[in-house]
Amino acid sequence: MSKSDRVVLVLGGAGTVGSGIVKALLDKGFKVAVISRDSNRLERLTSFISANTKDSLITIVGDVGSEVGVEQAKQDLLKKVGKITDVISSLGFSWWQGGPPHTQTLKDLHWVMESLLFSTFVSWKAFFPLVRDDSKCTYTFITGGAGEKLLMHGTGFLTVGAASALAFCQVLREEYPESPCKLYQMKIDTGVATTERMTPGYLNHLDLGDAVAKLVEQQNASHVVFTIRCPADLKSVVLDENI
Ligand SMILES: NC(=O)c1ccc[n+]([C@@H]2O[C@H](COP(=O)([O-])OP(=O)(O)OC[C@H]3O[C@@H](n4cnc5c(N)ncnc54)[C@H](OP(=O)(O)O)[C@@H]3O)[C@@H](O)[C@H]2O)c1
Repeated sequence: MSKSDRVVLVLGGAGTVGSGIVKALLDKGFKVAVISRDSNRLERLTSFISANTKDSLITIVGDVGSEVGVEQAKQDLLKKVGKITDVISSLGFSWWQGGPPHTQTLKDLHWVMESLLFSTFVSWKAFFPLVRDDSKCTYTFITGGAGEKLLMHGTGFLTVGAASALAFCQVLREEYPESPCKLYQMKIDTGVATTERMTPGYLNHLDLGDAVAKLVEQQNASHVVFTIRCPADLKSVVLDENI
């Protein structure tokens, strides 16, 4: 299957991490679809990507955080693109530091879980069947290292939400060991920023995007978790330096 025949759905593609992935995939010649709740974010994404790739980007306004919302988004997507061959799930938020647990409400915890876990689960349930039975297809989850430790004072619910996303990915790997569709997880154990917001120690979203695009392009062995702590770790994803 040539790259122009592949349609990659990037969930969270208008976000910090997702936008770097979308740009890299388009630059490599993939068709890319992005669902966002916010048409302004989709417009910003369209002006961010390389001008000569705009025709290969399909944008859809939709909410993949509920079963009803994701079903509508799926119908709209299939009407526009006909099929998808790959999914990258980069849902959630960049940072949360609402305070220690005794200062928080159940509503705060709901919001964190909705953003990091429920949308990941609901969209996986809707989109995985479209790629599940084809060994040329891939499904990649972007997760955060925050799920393994408290990053700093006041970030507790980030740890709870990120840990639930890590656990969900582990469950999928163990429940579907023989899935023809390749399952990948990129566990990002550091901050990610756009070029304008880069600070020392962070990963540039363009470099991360490039590594994710290469992963989708080259198709490694399935069920692999790539842990990324610094830019040098991005090389662990790449089998062939020439792509
Ligand atoms: N940024 C970092 O430093 C960092 C580091 C390690 C790991 N990560 C992980 O990377 C992932 C993405 O983070 P990010 O920094 O890119 O966050 P972000 O900039 O806030 O982007 C998150 C994206 O998720 C989308 N989203 C959430 N709920 C949705 C829903 N119900 N329907 C449709 N879209 C929904 C948002 O879409 P809308 O456009 O609709 O708002 C947004 O585009 C997270 O899982 C995070 O844990 C990030």
